[in-house]
Amino acid sequence: MPESALNSPDNRVLIFDTTLRDGEQSAGASLKNQEKLLIARQLAKLNVDVIEAGFPFSSPGDFESVRQIAAEIEGPVICGLSRTTPQDIDATWDAVKVSKKPRIHTFIATSDIHIAAKFKKTRDEILGIARDMVAYAASKCADVEFSAEDAGRTEPYFLYKVIEAVIDAGATTVNIPDTVGYTIPEEFGRLIKGIMLQVPNVHKAVISVHCHNDLGMATANSLAGILNGARQVECTINGIGERAGNAAMEEIVMALKVRPAYFEGIHTQVQTEHFLETSHMVSELTHISVQPNKAIIGENAFAHESGIHQDGFLKGRDTYEIMQPEWIGLNESMLPLGPRSGRAAVKARLNRLGLSMTDDDMAHFFNAFKQLADVKKRVEDSDLESLFRQLQPQA
Ligand code: KIV
Ligand code: ZN
Repeated sequence: MPESALNSPDNRVLIFDTTLRDGEQSAGASLKNQEKLLIARQLAKLNVDVIEAGFPFSSPGDFESVRQIAAEIEGPVICGLSRTTPQDIDATWDAVKVSKKPRIHTFIATSDIHIAAKFKKTRDEILGIARDMVAYAASKCADVEFSAEDAGRTEPYFLYKVIEAVIDAGATTVNIPDTVGYTIPEEFGRLIKGIMLQVPNVHKAVISVHCHNDLGMATANSLAGILNGARQVECTINGIGERAGNAAMEEIVMALKVRPAYFEGIHTQVQTEHFLETSHMVSELTHISVQPNKAIIGENAFAHESGIHQDGFLKGRDTYEIMQPEWIGLNESMLPLGPRSGRAAVKARLNRLGLSMTDDDMAHFFNAFKQLADVKKRVEDSDLESLFRQLQPQA
């Protein structure tokens, strides 16, 4: 049986980035090939394990983009998506084969809803197609991933049979997508656990998870999958993707980094200090802005607004911060000054600006600051400087 290019050691989770494929399926996001190459270079710098570069059969432009990325990018595995047809698989192989680490990713839906509506076939026919097309892909490429689309709504015993068959046919990674973001973390974790326990040849492949965010559960479901044995996780930068998006890479990776004891040392090899620049690049090129309160990389993720929080942070940053901003590539946390700011934060900012005063003067200054903050809502350094000048005794 072909060996995976990436046999994950037990305590490492492989990061499979699909920003350029599922991420680009976000409504309104269309990237030019040159932009995709820029993002692929950045993903390699981030040190992801696999880049899903596109869907080569879908258009000549996508084929060319996947081929360019496969030719240039070294380090990560370069993968292309294909339906379970020989034409799709041939196109993917032609696009990725120039890579030092090519992967063919082929998929077919396994839930009864999809089988009935899209294929009008029986379960056995679907199983046969999956097995035959994985064998076909494996005759070309040693690294083959199979995805059971809508696995989250697939009858588990049928799913086990499909997984066993595709592993026998040569799949080195089997991906379990929650395609419509329907499952709940405990339930999705149970599904992965069932696969680990019930599929006899499961140890011959890496089990992967791919979660969508329709109920806001994509990160939690991915982590539940990891806790139950998945060792590859599919995700995108900023969580972009079909409908409500895919699981956000930065959230999954930072959860593992911030809570090593909870996750029993399961880790990734992502260079997290590149997250912020990667997030900015993806947002700029896709024209999909990031909400300010987005976990990890949102503009407010390291901004402490209220007086009580600012005071606590200044006394000990771990009162209100569970990770350091430097870990994601941000220079420092922010204490924005506004109506809810306290004296400690104002004083700390004045010190940083080199403006010192007696305690009595500080009491005056703080009153004036509060009046200004009520009007302006956000008080900038230049406002503090001009207030300071106004309150100086005239010579
Ligand atoms: O969500 C999904 O099921 C997919 C597959 C093609 C992996 O994106
Ligand atoms: Zn998807």
